[in-house]
Amino acid sequence: MRQLAERRDIHIGAAVAYEPLAQEQLYAQILGKEFNLLTPENVMKFELIHPDPERYDFLAADFLVDFAKENAMRVHGHTLVWHQQLPGWVVNGKWNRDTLAEALQAHIAAVVGRYRGRVATWDVVNEGIDENGALRQTFWLKNLGEDYIEQAFRWAHSADPEALLFYNDYGAEEINRKSDAIYQMAQEFLKRGVPIHGIGLQMHITEDNPPDLEKVQRNIHRLGELGLIVHITELDIRIREPVSKAKLDHQAEIYGAILKMCLEEPACQAIVIWGFTDKYSWIPYFFEHYNDALIFDREYQPKPAYLELVEILSEP
Ligand code: G3I
Repeated sequence: MRQLAERRDIHIGAAVAYEPLAQEQLYAQILGKEFNLLTPENVMKFELIHPDPERYDFLAADFLVDFAKENAMRVHGHTLVWHQQLPGWVVNGKWNRDTLAEALQAHIAAVVGRYRGRVATWDVVNEGIDENGALRQTFWLKNLGEDYIEQAFRWAHSADPEALLFYNDYGAEEINRKSDAIYQMAQEFLKRGVPIHGIGLQMHITEDNPPDLEKVQRNIHRLGELGLIVHITELDIRIREPVSKAKLDHQAEIYGAILKMCLEEPACQAIVIWGFTDKYSWIPYFFEHYNDALIFDREYQPKPAYLELVEILSEP
């Protein structure tokens, strides 16, 4: 799949967990062979990479970034500013606007700075807009005020001027209030010279109710017209149990249609699957009665979805 993707000039990636990469040879082998982009699923998040005010823990993130380098994969950093997976010292700290801004800037400078030249693209702000298109009421918005998003992009840019910087969100794939708000924010940032380069569309979707890909394509197209790159950053297609051959085939069709749509849009430069083997996936922990969202099964065998992606990539 990887070689075919490279021929089609698209990045095909997977979110990667530290433990299996460190412990399971098969996990590492398939990852390096089948994908040319790696997104750390958890280990670059604030709570894990910066657990105490004076202590960063880069061990796991370094391991992933080194693996990517050895296997000539691009790294998509995830994520600098999010309201989840924050350490206690941040959420319970005594801050005013200035001291918190200073702490966030220092965090971004340290993390982006460490991986300067090694992490090509970053999710700078994750999930900062709500379904109605308003800024989401998060710890960051409440304590830093409305300009925290653009500030974060500026800080990331000064830590690595070469890195491409993304705003990433879910439920903004089609044209809707959230994606309209993201579009407007990005347009406004570009007008004012805020260093934003891309939009990440997460795409955690279900086999029984997939999005309207025509609308997704229109959304990607309009972002492209602004001069932005688009990545599908966290694709998975969960299946309602019981899983059947028909559902796996339908899942494959949806994976294929998404890839096809992305190949048709010059702005769409990467598809990243949120994991690759059903052995390791966030789905069963977060959605009751749903599972099997990825493209390899629990025994690392390719599913119909994998074969479909390969077939689409093989087309001339
Ligand atoms: O590390 C502990 C481990 O020590 C413990 O044994 C285990 C028991 O539950 O929990 C482990 O931590 C879990 C961690 O994943 C690592 O597996 C956390 O409880 C769990 O909350 C955490 O979930 C992650 C989730 O983000 C947090 O909100 C998922 O793995 C990760 O896939 C998910 O990813 C997010 C993206 O970052 C942003 N977009 C949505 C996406 C899906 O929610």
